[in-house]
Amino acid sequence: MRKPVIAANWKMYKTPTESVAFLHEFLPLVKACCDLEIAIYPTMSSLASVIEAVKGTNVSAGAQTMHWLNEGPYTGQTSPTMLASINCDHVLLGHSERRIYAHETDDMVNWKLKAALAQGLVPMVCVGETAEKRDSGLTEAVLRWQISCALNSIRPQDAAPIIIAYEPVWAIGTGSVARPDQIADAHRIIRREIAGRLGKHAASEMRILYGGSVKPENIARLMAEPEIDGALVGGASLDPHSLASIIENALPVKRAISL
Ligand code: 13P
Repeated sequence: MRKPVIAANWKMYKTPTESVAFLHEFLPLVKACCDLEIAIYPTMSSLASVIEAVKGTNVSAGAQTMHWLNEGPYTGQTSPTMLASINCDHVLLGHSERRIYAHETDDMVNWKLKAALAQGLVPMVCVGETAEKRDSGLTEAVLRWQISCALNSIRPQDAAPIIIAYEPVWAIGTGSVARPDQIADAHRIIRREIAGRLGKHAASEMRILYGGSVKPENIARLMAEPEIDGALVGGASLDPHSLASIIENALPVKRAISL
């Protein structure tokens, strides 16, 4: 049984003060929750404050990106060892907004993934097709390519911490959530590709989350699909009651399935 994950990608929102105020309200709402993992990815300038605020709780904190090298003349970048030095233990890699606006390539995602694993970080690798690729019948090709590049030369014995987030670009921030059957199809393609690269065991253990317009109202329907191991939430994670409702509505469904 794969332990579900609900992750919050705060993107470029919330100062340190706003982040800590969020956690002050949010942590008590979820403190009894142990059946799923909760991770929050704040912007870099709020990361140290969030790590401090979640210390000793059931919530983890991670960075939204990082460089693959440990140091060097790379203005604006943060390295894996720098994240580790502030006790950051999770990192998002290859989010479509990084691929689109920061021109992050599949090779870079692979270098970052290797660096994250070497540093002992829990990496969440984001993949997903654009509307144009889906409409051209290229969803499978895109997902297989992104996964195979990301996992290039990763050893099966090192792969356990990796989490995949399937985020169709057309569903991000649009209010048009993908249908559970569309997501399940995509997750099966991803899992098959992982199995081809890392073997069946690693593939069956790896958590694959869905992201794109997840809300308190649609999470239960999504989590009822056995292929969906959780969600990566953007807009609806910015309010503490909204994120807590997503967690609350996600839980009973997976509990019922595991019984
Ligand atoms: P929304 O939930 O706002 O659609 O964002 C999804 C996302 O990009 C999470 O990484």
